Amino acid sequence: MKICVMPGDGIGPEIMAQGIKVLEVIGKKFGHVFDVTEALIGGVAIDETGVPLPDATVKACKDSDAVLLGAVGGPKWDIIDPAIRPERGLLGIRKELSLFANLRPASLFSQLKKACFLRPDIVEKGIDVMVVRELTGGIYFGEPRGTGEENGERIGYNTMVYREHEIKRIAKVAFEAARKRSKRLCSVDKANVLDVSRVWREVVIEVAADYPDVELSHMYVDNAAMQLVRDPSQFDVIVTGNLFGDILSDEAAVITGSIGMLPSASLGEGNPGLFEPIHGSAPDIAGQDKANPLATILSIAMMLRYSFNLADEAACIEAAVEKTLSQGLRTGDIMDEDGTLVGCVEMGEAVLKNI
Ligand code: NAD
Ligand code: IPM
Ligand code: MN
Repeated sequence: MKICVMPGDGIGPEIMAQGIKVLEVIGKKFGHVFDVTEALIGGVAIDETGVPLPDATVKACKDSDAVLLGAVGGPKWDIIDPAIRPERGLLGIRKELSLFANLRPASLFSQLKKACFLRPDIVEKGIDVMVVRELTGGIYFGEPRGTGEENGERIGYNTMVYREHEIKRIAKVAFEAARKRSKRLCSVDKANVLDVSRVWREVVIEVAADYPDVELSHMYVDNAAMQLVRDPSQFDVIVTGNLFGDILSDEAAVITGSIGMLPSASLGEGNPGLFEPIHGSAPDIAGQDKANPLATILSIAMMLRYSFNLADEAACIEAAVEKTLSQGLRTGDIMDEDGTLVGCVEMGEAVLKNI
């Protein structure tokens, strides 16, 4: 099992170090050999090679069975040419590997109820939402895009475009996911305003014909943003486009305690999957041993399950995370009045022990 690891920038190397230790211990416990190679992406890649996604990194990813990523970006690189920003590295590798389906499961660990910002009666109903975000299309990649001048003033523009085949394949992934869960799928769009959303909705409705067992609903994105915090228990699987999915998944993260808890899997067809926490490089806490490594550790569990079909190993990691939380250990982002404050390393070590 060949794994390409890209720690990236900011807290990336700190959280990934804990993740790799977990992987090693799982290998020992279950008798697997994980062949890990490191590659550069993002700001560190710019510093060393001049570009955020060196060819060697693309090759290393394609030669692997799965890819792990920490995070990219930071203030140091905010001022450079947008064409070579760190974030372009991440967008580039998603595109190179055709990772069109981004699964972002947001569930609330019962131990973290006190870290959740919602009213206790809402939390009691349970939060278990799966955001299925389209990842290689939409306004992130649409052409034309750019900046220029019009009537003597500056303009900037992007294009939100979805093609039928792109909508069809992400809808299928979402229906399949819903089928394995509570069989409810909510497609989120802005069909009351955007043409692209009208086509999105039409195609999703057509795909639904193959999934009569799944209940399909539609919601405008502004309402969905509100409903997600008003009553998240109404959602099972949400399917949406690239930009809406980016925003809604950060929102879903906070209702489950912290963005430091949310893992993700980015999947395509035929290429290795990419697994990463949904958060960024957290420059405000980088280098201070404050980052929560659990989103990364849970992303590794997703990798074991989705890329290597190692369900027991994945469940073992998830159980160890639960046990660690039951012991009251908390990084700052999930701290409550009864918790014991620990750093990134101590949290990682506790998970190791519990494995
Ligand atoms: P961010 O997710 O990095 O941070 C937002 C807030 O959440 C910060 O207060 C941060 O301290 C906190 N946070 C994030 N992860 C945490 C963790 N594991 N433990 C504890 N607290 C955590 O978002 P941002 O500040 O908007 O972006 C910072 C940089 O990261 C930018 O350059 C952005 O482009 C980049 N970014 C990268 C990714 C990625 O690599 N997948 C995702 C989002 C943002
Ligand atoms: C994410 C991030 C990325 C995105 C950025 C860093 C390109 O916010 O993974 O959620 O917008 O997809
Ligand atoms: Mn994001």
